[in-house]
Amino acid sequence: MNKKVSLTGIKPTGMPHLGNYIGSIKPALELAHDYDARYFIADYHALNQIKDPVKLKDMTFEVAAAWLACGLDPNQVLFYRQSDVPETFELAIALMAFTPKGLMNRAHAYKALTQKNAEEGNPLDDGVNIGLFTYPILMAADILLFDADLVPVGNDQLQHIEMANDIAQSLNFNYKTEILKLPQPFTHKEAGLVVGLDGRKMSKSYNNEISLFLPEKKLRKTIMKIVTNSQTIEEPKDPDNCNVFSLYKVFATSQQQSELRAKYLAGGMGWGHAKEALFEAINAQLKAPREKYFELLERRDYVDKILLEGAEKARDIASQTISRLRKSIGID
Ligand code: ADP
Ligand code: TRP
Repeated sequence: MNKKVSLTGIKPTGMPHLGNYIGSIKPALELAHDYDARYFIADYHALNQIKDPVKLKDMTFEVAAAWLACGLDPNQVLFYRQSDVPETFELAIALMAFTPKGLMNRAHAYKALTQKNAEEGNPLDDGVNIGLFTYPILMAADILLFDADLVPVGNDQLQHIEMANDIAQSLNFNYKTEILKLPQPFTHKEAGLVVGLDGRKMSKSYNNEISLFLPEKKLRKTIMKIVTNSQTIEEPKDPDNCNVFSLYKVFATSQQQSELRAKYLAGGMGWGHAKEALFEAINAQLKAPREKYFELLERRDYVDKILLEGAEKARDIASQTISRLRKSIGID
C-alpha cells in the first residue's frame, strides 16, 4: 500500500531556533518514519522578506544544512528547493482563477498590515506587496502539487491550509473531478510551548530566541540570560512558574526533570545551578547535530547536490499533477 504523504515547507528567513526545532523540525522528522515525506525550502516565499541575493542564497543553504544536521535523511525524505520546481508557479497561476479576492483579504498577514495602516491613518494598502497578498495561493500550490495528505505546521499556518482546501475544492467542483487532493493540517501538541529568554513564546519577532546551533560557550552565555525572579539561593522555588524549568521540561529526561524539580522545591539551589542544568540538557541533545552542521557548512556542493537530486524527483511528481490539471482544464 502506498504511504500517505506528509509535506511541509520551511522559509529560509533566519537560522532556526529551539522553538522551531521542537515545534517543527523534530516532529516533521518523526513523521518521516511513517509517511512519504516531502520537505522543501520555500525560497520564493522568503523573497517577500529578503531582497538581498547573497543573503537569500546563504540562508537557503544554511537552513538546508540545519535540517540535514538534525537528521533529515535524503534517502528517506524528498528534500528540495521550491524554486527548482517551476511547476509550482504554473499551478499557482491556475489556482488564482479559483481564488476569490475576498478570501485573500481575510488572510492573517495581510489583515494585520491593513489594520495597522487603518489605525495609523495611512492608506490601507501602504507597504503591502502582491507577493504578501497572494502568499496563501503560492503556499496552496506547494501543497496541492504534491498530493499532500498531511501538512505538519504550527498553529499560525492553519488558516493557510484551510485556504488551500477552499481553493482546491472550488477547482475540483468546477471540473466535477478530484484533480487536487485535499490536505489535512497536522499540529503537534508542543506547538507554541517553547518559551524564549523573556518567558514569552520563543520567536524571531520577539528577539528572545536561542539559536539552534550556537557554539557551546555562546549557548551557555545565552542561557544565563534567561529571565528569573530575585529569590535568594536558600528560598524554595516554584518549577511550574519558571522560564528555566519550562525549557528544561522540553529537553531533559523525565528522571532528570524529577531530580531538578526536587531541588527547586527543597531550596538551597541558585538560579545559576538551574541554568547550568538546562545548558547540560540542551547541549546533550544538540552537540552532535551542531558538529554535523558546522561540518556541512564546509560542504556546500554536497548540500546543493542533495537539493538538486531531490528537485529532479520532485519535478517527476509535480509534472504528473500538472498534466492531470492541464487535461482537465483544457490547456494541454
Ligand atoms: P518565528 O515565530 O520565530 O518566526 P516561524 O513562524 O518561522 O517562527 O515558525 C516556523 C515553525 O516553527 C512553525 O511550524 C512554528 O509553529 C514553529 N515554532 C515557532 N516558534 C515556536 C515555539 N516557540 N514553540 C514551538 N514551535 C514553534
Ligand atoms: N508559510 C509557511 C511558514 O511561514 C512556510 C510554507 C510555505 C509552508 N509553503 C508551505 C508550510 C507549504 C507548509 C506547506 O512557516
